[in-house]
Amino acid sequence: MPVDRCICHNISFRQIKEIAEEKGYHDIQELQAEKISSTNCKLCQPYVKEMLRTGKTSFRPGVDLKLT
Ligand code: FES
Repeated sequence: MPVDRCICHNISFRQIKEIAEEKGYHDIQELQAEKISSTNCKLCQPYVKEMLRTGKTSFRPGVDLKLT
């Protein structure tokens, strides 16, 4: 099952990407300040950071992004 959303905020990485592009956000702190994603459990945080860096919006855990 791919990782493609911030479950706590009930928003997909694709939707987050669209908002970030629209508002000109380039880092996760800007999304968190606006309470768009990644402020609760933060399990999505490394994926959202990678999404902002690469534009990718769906990840296979342990394959597309290795958490250390
Ligand atoms: S899944 Fe994003 S804060 Fe919990």
